[in-house]
Amino acid sequence: MRKPIIAANWKLNKGPSDTEDFIKSFESRLNDLPKGVDLVLAPPFISLPKATELLSQSKVRVAAQNMSEQDNGAFTGEVSALMLKEVFVSYVILGHSERRSIYGESDELINAKIRKAHELELKPIFCIGETLGEREGGQLEEVLRRQLTKGLEGITEKQILDTVIAYEPVWAIGTGVTATPEQAQDAHEFVRSVLTDLYEVSVSEKVRIQYGGSVKPANAAELLGQKDIDGALVGGASLEASSFAELIANGVVE
Ligand code: PGA
Repeated sequence: MRKPIIAANWKLNKGPSDTEDFIKSFESRLNDLPKGVDLVLAPPFISLPKATELLSQSKVRVAAQNMSEQDNGAFTGEVSALMLKEVFVSYVILGHSERRSIYGESDELINAKIRKAHELELKPIFCIGETLGEREGGQLEEVLRRQLTKGLEGITEKQILDTVIAYEPVWAIGTGVTATPEQAQDAHEFVRSVLTDLYEVSVSEKVRIQYGGSVKPANAAELLGQKDIDGALVGGASLEASSFAELIANGVVE
């Protein structure tokens, strides 16, 4: 059985003081939430120290939304894996479609970041997903296979077990349009089959694959109820503690 993992991707929202407000409100709801789920919050860089400090006694873990593939040096505006470790970050979202499309991150760069994260024992949440044009053009499988194969180049069996894959169809992100549970399950099954091409089946069966793209309290149960869907990466519906808590309560059946 794979333990579900639900992560809040706040994107460019919530400085330290909003982060504090959210965490206080969320923590007060934690006791009533299902226990058999890993919970992760991903605030902007500037709010990471506040989040890890407030959650130091909590089971909720903290993720960064990005990271440099470099260790240090003349890379203005970047943040290294070691710096994230220093403020007790556990996970890092890599390859998000907004990083790929707006900031031009390539599969090769994302692979370098995933390798660097593992080198420093940060757990990557590695995002993949097709655009609407790619899906309608019949390229869904080709795109997912390419992103996975290139992104995971050089990643060992031990490391893939500490990697979370997030399948996020680009057309469903922030649009209110969600993949149907069947569309999502089919894509997840395909992702797992590619993992089985790359690793032993006993390994690929253990890798957690989140779904992301307009997940909300009302659709979490159906989506997370699918065989190969092991959690969610949530944007909009994670910005309010009440809605994120409701989504977790609805999505995780114990
Ligand atoms: P959304 O974002 O839930 O707002 O669609 C998901 C994501 O981008 O990770």
